[in-house]
Amino acid sequence: MTLTVSILLAYLLGSVSFGVLASWIFKLPDPRTYGSKNPGATNVLRSGKKAAAVFTLLGDAGKGWLSVALAQHFAPVLGFGPAAIAAVALAVFLGHLFPIFLRFQGGKGVATALGILLGFNPWMGLLAVTIWITVAAIWRISSLSALAAAALAPIYAVFFLGLDARTLAVLMMSLLLIWRHKSNITNLIAGTEGRIGKGERLKR
Ligand code: G3P
Repeated sequence: MTLTVSILLAYLLGSVSFGVLASWIFKLPDPRTYGSKNPGATNVLRSGKKAAAVFTLLGDAGKGWLSVALAQHFAPVLGFGPAAIAAVALAVFLGHLFPIFLRFQGGKGVATALGILLGFNPWMGLLAVTIWITVAAIWRISSLSALAAAALAPIYAVFFLGLDARTLAVLMMSLLLIWRHKSNITNLIAGTEGRIGKGERLKR
């Protein structure tokens, strides 16, 4: 019962899109109407309002981190083991991808996955950020950076978490995240993927 409620609450929190919220707060167009049409920090940045992108990044990452942090903090009281914590993590992630408040049309999960990794283990989150920044510094492509960090996440999850349900959750999140980047992968192969800060898609 407590686990069901926790999963439901995590899913509802995950369903809150900070990219859409940012457009209301900063009086910008809805990110689902421009650029890649993704309600994520990268696309909100294409609006030209950096503060809105930072708000989106922190909010979407924060909801992932908070869900995992609360599940872990109250684990002894609630009787949660790694499997229950993994289920809560997946619930918040799925909420972001398939939000009940946006007719199940959500984001690609990059920031929320980062928050979840940080919640599982801060070093793991830091490693994901380091990979993202390194790839971004070389190629300046947000999706490529996210894909690299996600593809490597299950490997370093084994190192930080061992072989338990949380590692399986990281593997599932990575696969879902890569699947949500289908159009980005097509663009990357075609050499047409936009670079950070260029706003190419707004010009199309
Ligand atoms: O955070 C999502 C990013 O990896 C790609 O976003 O808008 O370029 O499809 P976008």
